[in-house]
Amino acid sequence: MIKTYEGHEIFYKRMKEKGIRSWNEYSRVKYPEILAETKRFLSDTLAQPWAPKGGRVVELGCGTGPILRWICKRDFSGLGIDVCKTAIAMAKDQSKGLDVKFKRADLCRVNVERIGKFDLAIDGKCLHCIAGADDRKKFLKNSLKLLKKGGLFIVMTMCSPVNRKLLSVGRENWKFINHTHYIPWDKASKFEDYVTINGRAYLPTRKVPHWKSILSEIRNAGFKILMFRYCEPTKQEPCGDLSVAALA
Ligand SMILES: C[S@@+](CC[C@H](N)C(=O)[O-])C[C@H]1O[C@@H](n2cnc3c(N)ncnc32)[C@H](O)[C@@H]1O
Repeated sequence: MIKTYEGHEIFYKRMKEKGIRSWNEYSRVKYPEILAETKRFLSDTLAQPWAPKGGRVVELGCGTGPILRWICKRDFSGLGIDVCKTAIAMAKDQSKGLDVKFKRADLCRVNVERIGKFDLAIDGKCLHCIAGADDRKKFLKNSLKLLKKGGLFIVMTMCSPVNRKLLSVGRENWKFINHTHYIPWDKASKFEDYVTINGRAYLPTRKVPHWKSILSEIRNAGFKILMFRYCEPTKQEPCGDLSVAALA
């Protein structure tokens, strides 16, 4: 059986074929490769006295690496980790000449002891791709282990409440149950975490707990939250958006 997160590989293959450089640019609303809000939260956080001013950064779920490259224009050298081999190949291709490296790994399963310690870890919108409660714990535990004591963890993730009406536009057959998006797909039963609903196979693709629950998940993993920003769903985006800065 295929690991559920590797389902992203299909999208990266399509992006590569179409010459699309990044996840955001592939979205149905055409976004820039890094959203203005993402840059704002990263800049605001890195300007704080408790934030590292340079050193080693790891991006978790780096995709083709736009966030990592942006951060590495400051005084950081970086490592991007993603489960998809096509994403990693595209990231390497787009990062020639820069002080960034990439590694393919499933962040819920990899032994991070061998990867090293970082001053800054950024969740590159990966946490909401992880639906299972145990896997989310493993992801957060691995994030903590990747950081030096006092290192900074930045999480950027979709969250609830959601605008259910907007959520269903163009996704009439999707299910949203217990804060989880399930997509119906004929190949879903080839993946580890597929579920059957009314005789049809669905794949859990996004987990968007209430923003307060996500803050608890981060605290329970051992982080000290210093700053966060919650944004309600917008006219374009049916999910809320949570950004968090926490210390290891
Ligand atoms: C929403 S995309 C964002 C990609 C990139 N950070 C960006 O901003 O363009 C989330 C990424 O997380 C990766 N991902 C999902 N689950 C993962 C896991 N368990 N381990 C590593 N990467 C994962 C996906 O392959 C995907 O590239």
